[in-house]
Amino acid sequence: MQIKSQIAPLAKVKCDLLAVAVFKDAKTLPPELAALDRTLGGALQTGIKQGDLARKGSGYWFYTSKKAAATRVLIMNLGLRKEYDDEKLRQAVHQVITLARRLRVAHLALGHLAIEESKWPLAEAAHKVAETCLLAHYKYDAFTKKKETDDEDADRPIETVALVSAHASTQKALNQGIRSGTVYGSATNFARDLVNGPRNHVTPDAFLEKARKIARRPGMTLKVFNTAQLKKMGAGCFCGVAQGSDNPAYMLVLEYRHNQKNPPVAFVGKGITFDTGGISIKPSTKMRDMKMDMAGAAAVLGAMLAISELKPKENVIGVMALSENMPSGHAYTPGDILKALNGKTVEINSTDAEGRLVLADALTYTARTYKPKYMVDLATLTGACRTALGTYRAGLMTNHQATADQIMQAAERAGERYWQLPLDKAYKKLLKSKYADLMNNSDSGLAGTISAAAFLQEFVEKTHWAHLDIAGPGMENEGVFDYMDKTATGFGVRTLLRLLG
Ligand code: BES
Ligand code: MN
Ligand code: ZN
Repeated sequence: MQIKSQIAPLAKVKCDLLAVAVFKDAKTLPPELAALDRTLGGALQTGIKQGDLARKGSGYWFYTSKKAAATRVLIMNLGLRKEYDDEKLRQAVHQVITLARRLRVAHLALGHLAIEESKWPLAEAAHKVAETCLLAHYKYDAFTKKKETDDEDADRPIETVALVSAHASTQKALNQGIRSGTVYGSATNFARDLVNGPRNHVTPDAFLEKARKIARRPGMTLKVFNTAQLKKMGAGCFCGVAQGSDNPAYMLVLEYRHNQKNPPVAFVGKGITFDTGGISIKPSTKMRDMKMDMAGAAAVLGAMLAISELKPKENVIGVMALSENMPSGHAYTPGDILKALNGKTVEINSTDAEGRLVLADALTYTARTYKPKYMVDLATLTGACRTALGTYRAGLMTNHQATADQIMQAAERAGERYWQLPLDKAYKKLLKSKYADLMNNSDSGLAGTISAAAFLQEFVEKTHWAHLDIAGPGMENEGVFDYMDKTATGFGVRTLLRLLG
């Protein structure tokens, strides 16, 4: 899908479908729509008077019979003006994209969605429209794609979307927003592809291949650590998890350098490409969802892809801890004691608490090697976080409140939602072991999400750090974003990018 701006009166826009929207409580049509309506012989006003836009989210489309350059016009109810916000805008875009797909539209134009009335500057509103076009258009069809000629059910993706304005003065802002929105949307969809992909395709090696491609772009470099190197380094927690699997595991470090001097910002992702639970094996019902246990690493890789295009002023490090968690004759077992990169010993209580183990060494490595300005990890870490917050919000925990505040602000601009949970010293008690410095989880079953964060905190040195538990919104789209399909959401990509500016 290619998104661009177009300066023209609406009646002159040549396309298969021209979409416009009005507020339900608007007394008159805005000037651009009034002009279009004159060309159309009053078809917009007639429908409105008829009550065709009265219901919430309603809309109707009709053929223009060559009165306008567009083949069809769609008009939608945007709701009440005072309730107009980003979500309403995104829903309207989703509605258009869904209909356009159904009608097999190749060239779509967005004529008037009242983006001038959004509380954001025009470029920001255009960003949201472009981003949402891509997110709403996304379909995971790697294994179902049919050619148009093969089957009448075959999909026809939208080829172009034009954001139309009558005023030449707006074009610069529109283009700016379209560019960044396109990068954000594509990077989020890139992460969604990884999360949706099954274990037998999305392996640590598949990540490596994608990371190598990104690393070829200017400003980017990639460091690859295999388990032999990690073992030598002393990353015993990572290697403990990886040893049960026959597919090779890696820690990947993608670096984006804008300048040499400044300490970087670091993003660290949990990349368990399949989590069986290991010897503490999970029940088989819904185990297949655990192909998504790499959503944190996917978000990091998606963000790095966008960063290679947006070239922000910050230096950025993207770290991905990639491994499967499998049961086998060489798998780690409960009772094992592993030695982490920072020297702490960890008794394994459950091999299913594997995410925190691979992250522990990745966090220590990142903190020590890069001394980052701050460090954010993303992980589908605990079922308890889904229990506490559902899928609507991710959990956020931190050792530095200002970092959390910054993330909350970035998330607000990104349209993603988090909720902060406490991280008092007292929670560390839950991780006491008789035999080692720490236990990897608590038998008590108390504070599952916070105790996991308390574990991670033992490995971040003095670095300002925030932990995002995306086990809820990071996997399937169950009530997370109503402008996306039901598959993976790419959660986290947009927040990370907003953090950089
Ligand atoms: N990947 C899971 C967390 C998870 C569970 C994400 C369900 C999404 C849906 C993680 O590795 C895990 O297994 N966590 C355990 C922790 C427990 C053993 C302390 C959990 O949540 O049950
Ligand atoms: Mn697990
Ligand atoms: Zn896991």
